[in-house]
Amino acid sequence: MRTLGTGIRRYTEPSVRDFTQSGGRLTTSAADFLGELGWEPAEIELVLGEYQEVAERLADRYADTQLHYPRTHGVEVETSAVLYGLSRLLRPRSVVETGVADGRSSWLILAALERNGSGLLHSFDINRTAGRLVGEHPQWRLEILDAKDPEACFSRALERVGTIDLFFHDSDHLYLPQLFEYRQAWPRMAEGGVFASDDVNSSRAFLDFCGRHGQRPVFLFDSRKITGAVRRLGTDVRGVAPAQRVG
Ligand SMILES: C[S@@+](CC[C@H](N)C(=O)[O-])C[C@H]1O[C@@H](n2cnc3c(N)ncnc32)[C@H](O)[C@@H]1O
Repeated sequence: MRTLGTGIRRYTEPSVRDFTQSGGRLTTSAADFLGELGWEPAEIELVLGEYQEVAERLADRYADTQLHYPRTHGVEVETSAVLYGLSRLLRPRSVVETGVADGRSSWLILAALERNGSGLLHSFDINRTAGRLVGEHPQWRLEILDAKDPEACFSRALERVGTIDLFFHDSDHLYLPQLFEYRQAWPRMAEGGVFASDDVNSSRAFLDFCGRHGQRPVFLFDSRKITGAVRRLGTDVRGVAPAQRVG
């Protein structure tokens, strides 16, 4: 039976102390975050060097696009650089993101996949207006989930996607929806893949999930929100192994 304490945890946001005492590593810049995830300074410098021009092109794209969502829905400055950097450094075959809105995160990931010359981005949202910054892209698969039962649709869709090299949550930030997506994505992560979430300060789901799986995350304290990530290496304390590549 669920205790009252467990129930209340689901409705309270974590404090800064929860992050400092989590055993996770705390960073405030994209470069440090990527370094903590295991990349070398020279590799990081290269991709973040490219990012300057990418950010300028994205600013032009904003100027040409009629937006549907407030700008604050988009990923923040350092997290933007992280998404571009990770998508270049990992050279992923398959990226999954949940929560598109106007498509800032999608645009950045696709800019990297385009430069890589390979890889697909599978994006999921419940709103048909999502993705205006991107429009269309040959490496993009945008799926609009049935808003009445997004979870069932999402799990069926992941079966089709197969192994995931980069996962990024940015959809519904309540405890149970976050936890649901993490549980769906984690067993499908490739060895060495990056499992990441925006808004890990919105609920305790990411902290709880990482604790239960014996993972020591890296946190990026961006201007208003916190992004978290772990590199998927080896079997976790629950005996869950990274996925054999499928799909
Ligand atoms: C914070 S915004 C995403 C911002 C986006 N990643 C960016 O950087 O521009 C959240 C989005 O999640 C979508 N959403 C809400 N619940 C969802 C769910 N259960 N599954 C997928 N998307 C969902 C909303 O429609 C909204 O577009």
